[in-house]
Parts: sequence; C-alpha cells; structure tokens
Amino acid sequence: MKGTKDIMALLLWLGLSLLVSVQSSAVNNCHPGCRCEVESFGLFDSFSLTRVDCRGLGPGSTMPIPIPLDTTHLDLSSNTLGPLSDTMLAGPGYTTLVSLDLSSNHITKVSPNALSKLRYLETLDLSHNDLEILSIDCFSGLPLAEVDLSHNNFQEFDTNVFAAKVNGEPVSVDLSHNQLTSVFTTPHGKVLHIQSLNLTANQLSSVPRLAGLPLRYLNLDGNPITRIKEGAFAQLEDLVYLSISGLKELQEIEPYAFKGLQSLQVLDLSNNPKLTTLNPTVYSGLDSLQELNLSNSGVVSLPNDMLTHLPSIKSITLGQNIRCRRTQKQGQFHWQLGQVQHNEELNCNADGIVL
Ligand SMILES: *[C@@H]1O[C@H](CO)[C@@H](O)[C@H](O)[C@H]1NC(C)=O
Ligand SMILES: *[C@@H]1O[C@H](CO)[C@@H](O)[C@H](O)[C@H]1NC(C)=O
Repeated sequence: MKGTKDIMALLLWLGLSLLVSVQSSAVNNCHPGCRCEVESFGLFDSFSLTRVDCRGLGPGSTMPIPIPLDTTHLDLSSNTLGPLSDTMLAGPGYTTLVSLDLSSNHITKVSPNALSKLRYLETLDLSHNDLEILSIDCFSGLPLAEVDLSHNNFQEFDTNVFAAKVNGEPVSVDLSHNQLTSVFTTPHGKVLHIQSLNLTANQLSSVPRLAGLPLRYLNLDGNPITRIKEGAFAQLEDLVYLSISGLKELQEIEPYAFKGLQSLQVLDLSNNPKLTTLNPTVYSGLDSLQELNLSNSGVVSLPNDMLTHLPSIKSITLGQNIRCRRTQKQGQFHWQLGQVQHNEELNCNADGIVL
C-alpha cells in the first residue's frame, strides 16, 4: 500500500514539474539579423511559443523577413518599413502570429489586405508611425484584443474599423497622442466591442459621442475641452473608470453632465486648474462612485451633503494633499429607536473643506 502511495506521489511530482518547466532553446532557421527563442511548457512540452525579435534590422532588408514556422510573437519595430503593402506580412510563419509589433516604422498607410493573413492576431502595436487614416476593413477577420495606435497623425477616427473583427471579444484601443478633433461611430446595427479607449493628448474640444460602445475605461486627459455638457456620457452605462485630468481649459461641468454613468467607480478630475466650482447636481447619477480625484483643481471645498449625492463614495482627494474619507460618526443613543445610531460622515485631514 505504502509503495503505491509513494509511486503516486512521485508521478504527481513529475507531472507537476513537467507542467511548470519552461525551456528556451535556440531556433535553427532564424534570420541572421533577428533573435529567435522557443519557450516550451506544459506536460511533454505540449505548448510552445516562438518569439522573434527583428528590431532595428537596418536598411535593405527585403520583406517579408523570413521567420520560423509557428512564430507567435514578432517584433519588427524600428525598421523604416514605410507604407504596408499586401505582401509584406504574408510569408510562412506569419499566419500563426498572436502578437505583432510594428511601432516606429514611418508607416503612412496600411493597405486593405496587409494584415489579412494574420488570422490569430490578438495584439497589434502600430504606435509611433505616421498614420492618418485606416481603411474600414483593414482589421477584417482578425481576433484583435489590443491595438496600439498612439503617437500617429489621426485627425478623425471612425471606431467602425473594429466592426469587422472576427469575434465578439472585447478590444482595447490606444489612440493617445494623435491630432484627433473627432472620434465617431457610424450606426450600423452591430455592437462594437471596444471596452477601453484611450484618447489622452489629442485635440478634442468636446466630449465625443460614444453612445452604444460597451466602454469600461475612457481617458480624455490633456484635451482642449472647455466645457462638459449635460448628458455628455449618456448611454455609457458600463463605464467603470473615467479620467478627465490635465485639461488646461476646462472651466465648466454642467449639471447632470455625468448622468447615466451608473457603474462608474473612479472619476479623475485632477489637474484642471480653471475648474473652480462644481454644482452638487454635477454628482447626480454617480451611484457607484467610490473614488473622486479633484487634486490640483480649482475646487477646494465640498458640499456638506456629499454622501447623499455620492452614496458609494469612499475617498475624495483635493488640493495639494487633502484626503477625505467616509467614516462613522460617534454613535449616539437614539431614545425613540432604543439603539445606538451610527451616522456616516466625510472626514478630511484638513479643516474647512466640507462646508
Ligand atoms: C493612456 O495613454 C497615456 C498616454 O499615452 C498613458 O500614460 C496611459 O497609461 C494610457 N492608459 C492605459 C490604460 O493604457
Ligand atoms: C489624484 O491625481 C493626482 C494627479 O494626477 C495623482 O498624483 C494622485 O495619485 C491621484 N490620487 C488618487 C487617490 O488617485
């Protein structure tokens, strides 16, 4: 009996150690300018990832760069590729790519079928290029989950470019550091599964209409927005995190501006120096809000009935280093109810904040 147990234990140990062992080995057919690495893991090395790093190959490389079959991760950044043609990413080994880095390549154009062979592509980095426009079907049939389009020259962006994605899995899109004056969604009856949209450091002068996107994260930092209008975020009922920070020109947030943001947990309004007052009705509808950041903004006080406006709030930051938290007031014996009643209040580490 004891022997069987020992053998079982040994087998279990062997199995577990095989499962967690990761082996890297060299790859034979690797382009001389690239570094190729295979990582195997799983029982009997049943899974493997081939990573190929062809950063900065220098001028004169002919595309497509030959890569090992079954390559999963390819880094082609800093290669001065220029406009992407239909053939540059069409060689053997490219069809299995899960992740592709094309950043810093002076890419001005992506030909409609340039990416069409990349049937398994989930992560695409096109940041630090010279893109102004994407053809509406250039991501057609790709199972993209993360797309980095930051540091390009987009002035307008139609989110429908993600409508032709192959599956309904959510995608995160980074459009920060462009020249965007307009982001829009042309209605077409299909749900766009964009769950995270980063619009930091663009030229937006108002909050774009994003109604209908199932967004959970939205960042509008550093845009020249002067005023946030009533209902600006209407129909973004899944939004959990909203950042509107570092808006040098933001002067006014209208009453009911955040109406409809019933899932919002974090609201960052920091570093907005021209924002000096917030009418209590601005907080209307933020029933799930837990964290509000007003640090380094012009707002220096809070209404005393803040907890009725923000029933879920846990922490508010404002000024230079002032932090207010929800605390229990000293319990008082309530004679009529015959019990100690606890009242909650907002407690700050500075005086004169709660009016
Ligand atoms: C959004 O973009 C800014 C600027 O590029 C970056 O600092 C920030 O981390 C991004 N947010 C996310 C969630 O990636
Ligand atoms: C509030 O924003 C400031 C400035 O952006 C940042 O430094 C700070 O960490 C934020 N505080 C919280 C509690 O998120």
